[in-house]
Amino acid sequence: MTPKQISLVQSTWMKVVPIRDEAAGLFYRMLFEMDPGLRPLFKSDMAEQGRKLTSMIGTAVAGLAELPAIVPAVQELGRRHVHYGVKDAHYDTVGAALLWTLEQGLGPDFTPEVKEAWATAYGVLAATMKDAAAKVPA
Ligand code: HEM
Repeated sequence: MTPKQISLVQSTWMKVVPIRDEAAGLFYRMLFEMDPGLRPLFKSDMAEQGRKLTSMIGTAVAGLAELPAIVPAVQELGRRHVHYGVKDAHYDTVGAALLWTLEQGLGPDFTPEVKEAWATAYGVLAATMKDAAAKVPA
């Protein structure tokens, strides 16, 4: 990611933070509409799940400029996701639902450049999670 992309992701995330609970609600609604088969994977309270998700995104966003420092935590997250029943293909659906949610939350601030920056950031995180997941013994 370029420094410009990192700062775009960080500055737009700051605009989502005040509406993060609502954004998480929108995100899961869209995700389950895109793939209803994902709903049964989520066993816990969805409001709490949404808070865990936005908190983790916040940590990752803050760490983008220092990726090596957050890679171990992201790898751990990827390994835990194997036990949640998450498959590689699901990452594309989650990525699409995330971009759609950001577009709803940011409105005109969701420019093509911002979209590209977020797609790149999500791609890096998803690739790190999937790589770690692939090494989990079956
Ligand atoms: C960058 C991508 C992702 C991030 C940052 C993320 C973040 C999180 C976090 C923080 C948790 C809380 C539990 C934990 O820390 O282990 C979690 C749980 C979970 N995530 Fe993700 N996740 C991502 C991708 C995905 C994908 C692609 C799926 C596929 C549907 C998914 C499905 C789940 C499920 C099923 C749980 C467990 C829910 C439960 O306990 O009921 N996540 N995720």
